Amino acid sequence: MSKLYAISGVTGMTGNELVRQILSDKESKDHILGFDNFYASSIDTVADCIDDERFEFFEYDINNKEQMADFESRVNAVKSQYDEVIYINCAAVVHTEHFYHVYETYETNVAGMNEFLQQAIRVGAQKYINCSTSEVYSMNSWNENGGVKESDFLTMAVAEHSQRTSYATGKLLTEFFMKDAVDTGKIKGCSIRFANVYSKNERFPKHIIPFIINSFRDNGKVVLLENSRKNKRTFLNNYDSCSAVLALANTDSALDGTVYNVATDEEISIIDLAKLCASKMGISDPVIEFDGYRESDPERRLLSTEKIRTRTSWKPAVDLEKGLDECITNYLKG
Ligand SMILES: NC(=O)c1ccc[n+]([C@@H]2O[C@H](COP(=O)([O-])OP(=O)(O)OC[C@H]3O[C@@H](n4cnc5c(N)ncnc54)[C@H](O)[C@@H]3O)[C@@H](O)[C@H]2O)c1
Repeated sequence: MSKLYAISGVTGMTGNELVRQILSDKESKDHILGFDNFYASSIDTVADCIDDERFEFFEYDINNKEQMADFESRVNAVKSQYDEVIYINCAAVVHTEHFYHVYETYETNVAGMNEFLQQAIRVGAQKYINCSTSEVYSMNSWNENGGVKESDFLTMAVAEHSQRTSYATGKLLTEFFMKDAVDTGKIKGCSIRFANVYSKNERFPKHIIPFIINSFRDNGKVVLLENSRKNKRTFLNNYDSCSAVLALANTDSALDGTVYNVATDEEISIIDLAKLCASKMGISDPVIEFDGYRESDPERRLLSTEKIRTRTSWKPAVDLEKGLDECITNYLKG
């Protein structure tokens, strides 16, 4: 079965790995139309795929009506050549420092997501995959019973506490758009709540893993937030986040409009993460300092992945040891 993929945010951490995995079967006739406005990425992330004629890239903004109309017409022009059209929405204002920018996150993550969904419905796409976030679990991001489930009620920090949750609130709304579109028979699809994705080649290494490695490399020490004295997290390699997207996209019975947690259960404290990175970098007595505090930052984030594991054959393939080794090799290259 041949597929036409329409991917927003295609040069971002999730998008570029999706391109790689989709194109990895050299015999496949699948085709990708992807766009990104380089808000947080560059064309370098897909340099190894850009010459593949099955991948077409456009420097477009999801909020630009003319550019989105052109993208839609390109999908319409070729869609009859494929058995299935799959939209995957990765475009978003994602990094923690942007979580507080209410208007920007609303425009791209909420209004942009919905415009892309309506486009998918108009062109007659069969499927839409919506990237949401585990940030929606907010202050109840863990429990002692194998992690939070998709069906758990939420306890969110609100504007009384921090503007940070505006990002999560916007993402939560997209899950309702997704459910409505499926319930009204317009398209199949689902939302995915990823937890702490990392990659060996982040363009702007602001996530904690590249931050720690680069800090040790450049300054010989790392300065963590005060929250890190207690915080624990699990980390999901972007290879596994993307294999989850494709596992869901290829399992029709899973595309019922609901939500899937995608995470690992390898929990580690941020201090131990820093020590582990240091030891892998050959630093025996690492200097770890603390400065600054982030409001409404949950101490733990542990997600149950029973639902996706039951409904698809997905499971993570890259454990933290292997993922960190790859990151360190790559970031030490400079
Ligand atoms: N990274 C994580 O830990 C994480 C966790 C949970 C959920 N997610 C979600 O997964 C999805 C993919 O995130 P990612 O990790 O690949 O982040 P990323 O920042 O690497 O990728 C997002 C891409 O969207 C692009 N973009 C931003 N605004 C745009 C616009 N107006 N028009 C077109 N492109 C635009 C950026 O340039 C970037 O390439 C997002 O929806 C994000 O919210 C990520």
